[in-house]
Amino acid sequence: MLNTTPIPELYVSPESAAKLKVEAGRLVSHDLTHRQVCDLELLMNGGFAPLKGFLGEADYDSVVEHMRLSDGALWPIPVTLDVSEEFAARVEPGQDIALRDAEGVILAIMSVTDKWVPNKKREAEKVFGADDLAHPAVNYLHHTAGKVYLGGPVTGLQQPVHYDFKGRRDTPNELRAYFRKMGWRKVVAFQTRNPLHRAHQELTFRAAKEAEANLLIHPVVGMTKPGDVDHFTRVRCYEAVLDKYPPATTHMSLLNLAMRMAGPREAVWHGIIRKNHGCTHFIVGRDHAGPGKNSQGKDFYGPYDAQEMFKQYEAETGIEMVPFKQMVYVQERAQYFPADEVEQGMTVLDISGTELRRRLREGLEIPDWFSFPEVVTELRRTSPPRSRQGFTVFFTGLSGSGKSTIANALMVKLMEMGGRPVTLLDGDVVRKHLSSELGFSKEHRDINIKRIGYVASEITKNGGIAICAPIAPYTATRRAVREMIEQYGAFVEVHVATSVEECERRDRKGLYKLAREGKIKEFTGISDPYEAPESPEVRVETVSVTPDDCAHQVMLKLESLGLFG
Ligand code: PPS
Repeated sequence: MLNTTPIPELYVSPESAAKLKVEAGRLVSHDLTHRQVCDLELLMNGGFAPLKGFLGEADYDSVVEHMRLSDGALWPIPVTLDVSEEFAARVEPGQDIALRDAEGVILAIMSVTDKWVPNKKREAEKVFGADDLAHPAVNYLHHTAGKVYLGGPVTGLQQPVHYDFKGRRDTPNELRAYFRKMGWRKVVAFQTRNPLHRAHQELTFRAAKEAEANLLIHPVVGMTKPGDVDHFTRVRCYEAVLDKYPPATTHMSLLNLAMRMAGPREAVWHGIIRKNHGCTHFIVGRDHAGPGKNSQGKDFYGPYDAQEMFKQYEAETGIEMVPFKQMVYVQERAQYFPADEVEQGMTVLDISGTELRRRLREGLEIPDWFSFPEVVTELRRTSPPRSRQGFTVFFTGLSGSGKSTIANALMVKLMEMGGRPVTLLDGDVVRKHLSSELGFSKEHRDINIKRIGYVASEITKNGGIAICAPIAPYTATRRAVREMIEQYGAFVEVHVATSVEECERRDRKGLYKLAREGKIKEFTGISDPYEAPESPEVRVETVSVTPDDCAHQVMLKLESLGLFG
C-alpha cells in the first residue's frame, strides 16, 4: 500500500540555510560536476534515502562488493564525490567543504569523514560487470571522474536551480503529497530515457491494468546514455502524448537522476528511488538501463538479467516489480503484444532505436503503428534529415598544397547552390583573427585546430556549412575535431595530397625557401611532422587535376553522403 508519509530530507530550515551560506563562503569549496549536482539533488530531497551524504570508504567498499551499505541496507550503486588529486590535497577528514553548482551557488555543506583513492578497476568489474571502456559509466569512471573520493554527510542549503520544465519536476515528498491528495493507493512507475512510442504506451497501460494501479510516467532528465535524444525534445514529446492517457489515472513527473546504465544493479536502484518517491510498483522491461554492446560487440547484460536481479531483491526494495517482455507489433492483429504472447505464424514488426535514428536522418517514413504523429513531428524538428543538417568540410594538407584555393572554389559552388549559410575558416585567416597569439609548436597547433573545431561545431550545430582549411598535421587532433562535430552533423575530411616536393617546387609564399635556410623553424614537411590521414572521405590530387575539378570531387562526395537532399 502507498506510503504517503514524508520522507526525511537533508535540508535545513531557510533561516539556518541563510546563516550557513554566509559561513560556508569561508570554506574550501568544490565545484560540482553535472553528475554530482544530479546526485546531490536526490541525496538532499530523499530520492536516495537512506543515504545521508556521499558514501564513505566502508560503505563504498560494501556497496561495490555486496550491493549493501555497511549496516546491511540494500544499496546497489556507489554514489561518490570524486575530486582531483590537487583538490583532495587541500582537504582532510574532519573538515567541512562547500558544494557549489556550476555558477558558484552554494547548494550544500559536506562534513568530510573519508578520503581515499578508489580501485576503479574493481569498481568497474563489480558494479558494471567489466572494466571495458565501451561502457559509458566505465569510460566516465576512468576518463572523467577524479582520482580521489571524498565521503561524508551532507547538509542541504538549497535545491539545485532549474530553469526548464519547473512545473513538471517533483521531489519525493511533493509526489507523495500529490498521491495523497488524489487518493491514489497504488502507483506503478515507468522509468524511461527515450521518447514514448506506441509500444511504451501499450506497456504502461497493461502494467497499470495488471497492478490495478495508477500510472506515474517518470522520465529521467538528468544524465542518460551519451547519444540519447536530449531531454528538452523528449519532454516535449512526453507532453505531446500525455493526453493519450486518461488524466485522472496518470501523472508525469521529471526525475533529475544521473543514470549509470548499470543494467541489473541499476534496475534495483531505480526501484528504491521510485519507492522513495512514494510508488508501490515499478516496471522493468527488456534490457533495463542497458548500455549496449561491449568492446567485443556483445551485449553487456542479458535482456532479462535486470528482471532476475530485481526478483532476488524485490522484498527488500519495498516496491513490487511489474516485469515485461519486449512489446512487439503484430500486423494481423493491428495490436501490440509482449513478445512471448505472440501466436505462431504471425507477422511481428519492430523498429529498433538505430533504425529509427536512420530513418530520421534520411528523412524516411516512420509508420503510424510505431509512433504518434506528434512525437514524430517533434523528433523531426530536432533531428532534421541530413539534407537539412549542418556539416563541416575539413581540408588538411601541407602549406602551399592548394587547400585554400580548393576551399574557396568549394565555398563558391555551395553558395551558388544556396540553402545553408557557408563560413570558410581558412588557415591564414584563422591565424589572424582567432589564434594571433599562437606559434607553431605542437601544443599551439593543437590549440589552433581545436579552436577551429569548436567554431565549426557551433556552425554545424546551427545548420550551417563550415569549411576549414588548416594544415592540421596531427591525426589525434583531427580525430578530436571529428568527434566534436559528428555530434551535430557530418564531418567530411579532405586530404589535399600534394607532396612536399611539389609544394616546395611551387613555393607560392616563398616559405619553403626560408624553412630550408632555417629562417622559419618547425616548418611542416621540412622540420616538423605531417601525419597524412589514412582514410579521409576524399583525397584529392593537385598535380594533374585543377582546383575546380578537386572542388567538384568534394561536391560529388557531399551529394553521395545525402547532404544535398
Ligand atoms: S596548423 O599546423 O594547422 O596550426 O597550421 P595553420 O594554422 O594552417 O597555419 C599554416 C599557415 O601558416 C604559415 N606558416 C607555417 N606553416 C607551417 N609551419 C610553420 N612553421 C609555419 N609558419 C608559418 C603558412 O603560410 C601556412 O599557410 P598555408 O595556407 O597552409 O600555406
